[in-house]
Amino acid sequence: MNGLQLLGTGRCLPSRRVTNEDFARTLDTSDAWITERTGIRQRYFCAEGETAVSLAVGAARQALEDADVQPGQVGLCIAATFTADRRTPALACEVQAALGLPQTALCLDINAACTGFVAALETARCLLLGGQLAGPYALVLGAEKISSLLDFSDRSTCVLFGDGAGAAVVRLDPQAPWAAVFGTRGDGQVLHGGGPEDPYLAMDGRAVFRFAVETVPVCIRAVLDKAGLTLDAVDHLVLHQANSRIIHSIAKKLEQAPARFYENMQRYGNTSAASIPIALDEMRRAGQLCPGQTVLCAGFGAGLTWGGVLLRA
Ligand code: COA
Repeated sequence: MNGLQLLGTGRCLPSRRVTNEDFARTLDTSDAWITERTGIRQRYFCAEGETAVSLAVGAARQALEDADVQPGQVGLCIAATFTADRRTPALACEVQAALGLPQTALCLDINAACTGFVAALETARCLLLGGQLAGPYALVLGAEKISSLLDFSDRSTCVLFGDGAGAAVVRLDPQAPWAAVFGTRGDGQVLHGGGPEDPYLAMDGRAVFRFAVETVPVCIRAVLDKAGLTLDAVDHLVLHQANSRIIHSIAKKLEQAPARFYENMQRYGNTSAASIPIALDEMRRAGQLCPGQTVLCAGFGAGLTWGGVLLRA
């Protein structure tokens, strides 16, 4: 089916850990409110000198090592991000320089917000399948410094997000199952930020919640239908880590036990495009993700966008 095989993963979190209690010291909020509403207990923010690029490089280096792939064998480096340190050059190009990826590699960023990593996997698969890349391996990154877009006096958004990066090394596997499903509902109001008139992230939390619970189960079913698989054939469900209650509502709609869905937002908050690769890395290093297993990844977020793909571990 010409799917993707996951050969290695990595993650990198910045050094400044901020707990819910830390927020409660400066904002009218509490650990109980944040934990009950979101499942989030702490997150990491970049300290002085830490950037989306430095996080991406740290995660990418680990992923190459884990995959036992040399930088010179990489034909493609895609970074999913909506918080790159600058507009140009692309974050992926800075990773190329830092890691010594070959000059023949295609390096580019994509912005599909929290759907970014899933969109980057499908982009990588299509480019690998196209046969024009100079190397057989793709380095797919999710890297975010969301703290640069947060209004730390707005309790309804700043407690939800975190900075971080995750990376995956993938290659084509003719035997691996594949299906990808995407959607977009262009809406500049529900979740937005970073513009001249809206420098900080702002959102209608309830609308985002409803949107996620409505679209993601349909997307997951569509991915399975396309691949001719049932949920039982999927070993792991790795969703974007925005909110534990969103994941539990999706599990309920799919009539699945919540325990089937990986959760780590308690440690990192919502790291947007980085959340799925960070989760994959944790699972792999904990021995939870075993060779040959099938993973269904699904993302959702600003755009509004959503998407789901399969991966072979
Ligand atoms: N601490 C304490 N109170 C808070 C708070 C905080 N950090 N943030 C908001 N509140 C208050 C609100 O001001 C509101 O007070 P009011 O009733 O006096 O106006 C009250 O809590 C209820 O707010 P509401 O927005 O209705 O709460 P909610 O139950 O919908 O939970 C979210 C808010 C943001 C946690 C929830 O909507 C959510 O998780 N949405 C999805 C957001 C998301 O994941 N976005 C990214 C997707 S990629």
